[in-house]
Amino acid sequence: MLGSGGRCDPGRALIGDALAHCTFASFARDGMPVFVRPLRGSDRDLEKEFIASLSESTRFFRMLAPLRYLSPELLDQFMDVDSERRMALVATARRKEGSEYIVGVARYAMTDQPGTAEIGVTVTDTWQHRGIATLLMEALMRFARERDIDTFMGLVLPENTRMLALARRLGFSIRLERDDRLVRIERRLAAQIPV
Ligand SMILES: CC(C)(COP(=O)(O)OP(=O)(O)OC[C@H]1O[C@@H](n2cnc3c(N)ncnc32)[C@H](O)[C@@H]1OP(=O)(O)O)[C@@H](O)C(=O)NCCC(=O)NCCS
Repeated sequence: MLGSGGRCDPGRALIGDALAHCTFASFARDGMPVFVRPLRGSDRDLEKEFIASLSESTRFFRMLAPLRYLSPELLDQFMDVDSERRMALVATARRKEGSEYIVGVARYAMTDQPGTAEIGVTVTDTWQHRGIATLLMEALMRFARERDIDTFMGLVLPENTRMLALARRLGFSIRLERDDRLVRIERRLAAQIPV
């Protein structure tokens, strides 16, 4: 069971510095404390370290292709968030000596379809199965709904059973794309968001 509490919910309609410094304290399913907050410009090294921590299969499922080398340009893309058209929330934990590291990221980018954003979520392998993706996606849905985004969609490989199970649990519909190579998940955000 995920516990939650803390100083600030990034799902609220915050902007600017108030949003950047907003952190929501919560717990993984095993009771480990985690913090959910927006990705900040100063997180470049943490994001790089997070991507380096992912297994080949986790990267493959997220990128829909192998990712052997993280180019500075791709890292620029990951860091390019403006809180409106592109947003990323991170879940972080603290090492014994106090340094912070990213354990999961959920993000969206607006598509050409008005009101529709494409989502992506990744949790580092050692933190999977602990409710982190659920926590991040629920916060991201609250955040997007506050910003009048109607619909979340995503493209998932058909063999990505974990993501499909998570999407189903979060109320997404699931439909095989016409060419059968990808599954489209979709959810209207006006519908009630599970808490
Ligand atoms: C898919 C992915 C994001 C799931 O992340 P996760 O943090 O492990 O997901 P969660 O723990 O929130 O939810 C999944 C599991 O927790 C269980 N769970 C979550 N919250 C729970 C709760 N409150 N009580 C009981 N069970 C719960 C789910 O049933 C599920 O069980 P399982 O892991 O044993 O199958 C992760 O596997 C990943 O990063 N995959 C690679 C990237 C990817 O595929 N991204 C999707 C493309 S966009």
